[in-house]
Amino acid sequence: MELELPAREPDAAQQPKKVFVKTYGCQMNVYDSQRMADALAADGYVSTHTVEDADLVLLNTCHIREKAAEKVYSELGRIRQLKAERAAAGRETLVGIAGCVAQAEGGEILRRAPVVDLVIGPQSYHRLPDHIRRVRGGDKVVETEYAIEDKFEKLPALRKAAVRARGVTAFLTVQEGCDKFCTFCVVPYTRGSEVSRPVHQIVAEAERLAEAGVREVTLLGQNVNAWHGEGPDGVEWGLGRLLFRLAEIPGIARLRYTTSHPRDMDDALIAAHRDLPALMPYLHLPIQSGSDRILKAMNRRHKADDYLRLIERIRAARPDMAMSGDFIVGFPGETDADFEDTLRIVREVGYAQAFSFKYSQRPGTPAADHELQVADVVKDERLQRLQSLLTSQLNAFNTSVVGRSCPVLIEKPGRKPGQIVGRSPWLQPVILDESAGRIGDIVDTRISHVSGNSLFGQAA
Ligand code: 5AD
Ligand code: SF4
Repeated sequence: MELELPAREPDAAQQPKKVFVKTYGCQMNVYDSQRMADALAADGYVSTHTVEDADLVLLNTCHIREKAAEKVYSELGRIRQLKAERAAAGRETLVGIAGCVAQAEGGEILRRAPVVDLVIGPQSYHRLPDHIRRVRGGDKVVETEYAIEDKFEKLPALRKAAVRARGVTAFLTVQEGCDKFCTFCVVPYTRGSEVSRPVHQIVAEAERLAEAGVREVTLLGQNVNAWHGEGPDGVEWGLGRLLFRLAEIPGIARLRYTTSHPRDMDDALIAAHRDLPALMPYLHLPIQSGSDRILKAMNRRHKADDYLRLIERIRAARPDMAMSGDFIVGFPGETDADFEDTLRIVREVGYAQAFSFKYSQRPGTPAADHELQVADVVKDERLQRLQSLLTSQLNAFNTSVVGRSCPVLIEKPGRKPGQIVGRSPWLQPVILDESAGRIGDIVDTRISHVSGNSLFGQAA
């Protein structure tokens, strides 16, 4: 007979330290947050979803628009209070700021928010555990230098248990940084110049994801289609070639990539959309504005018509391609006529999904100093008109799928009991009865109706 020992509550000193990571902004930050949590797990930190429990609070920030940074500072106000309450209960709370606000503001953050113990830029995440040790010893640390070493090589390998817990879809950063210098954008300053991860690293990471049960991988990069690298054959590969290689990995059924720049959509990548069934027919390809005058002032280095012709070529390769994009309204100097050009291009393309923003002056970017700033009320009005057009296109796209059949990758249980949720090839959430299949299955589904932003379907 086995002896049953009474369960004992470990005392506080023996309990593992807990880290709470809050992610702002883009999918690359989501990926980075996961890698940071994994790096800290190797050091004994367990993740928590409750900030009140956390011994270490890490905010992974975004700097792309004004409000993003302001949100961080107001969050820090709440954390200051929490830190004081925990201190009164004899518990220490460390606070770290990562991401693009960290990179852009550096030591300024410590001055504006003394509650912060660590400021760490995106290029240094592999050094996070070392810095946390220093901070625990009482130091304040600011690390915004671009490290010479390859952070991805130095970060601990993905933990399979963590990947499994995150589900059957995963992000994989293949490229970082940007050399395009659109005049409105901070990314070239916060994320540095374009760097591509080597093929062997990407393949090894994708294999690890697949072994942990991942079925769909989304390759990430600020300019993901600018990715290039030397293949094992000694030849320079572009993203198209890389996608073919990743599709060979057993278990990987679906591939996506985001975000792309129109200038980097090369023939091989377009051909991959024609010839590679695993590559999903959904493309996020921002144009930002439909006016050539504004595109020039934005330094996009393409015209509206180049973009339309590119989409024609992409749709010739993959007729069911769903298009997605980003738009900025109220860029300095934008007139009513320029804005009408944006509406016109939206009507011509027909988007399945889109993100639109009011222009936000980012300090240090060329457009910020432009004298013809557009009044906020005008931006509001344009944004509203653009968004109502885009919403009607999204609804039309969703409705167009009704009555059709498509493969759905089942991702997670639904919100209501008895339901499961998956994704169509065009990235729409699809709700099914749980008897349709298990998480990770790809189920042929007949779409019966739309409600809100979700499709409903039955296994065909
Ligand atoms: N103001 C408004 N939107 C911006 N974006 C980038 N910089 C700015 C800015 N200064 C938008 C672009 C980009 C998306 C990620 O954010 O549309 O594609
Ligand atoms: Fe920013 Fe332009 Fe680079 Fe995109 S391509 S990250 S918008 S500078």
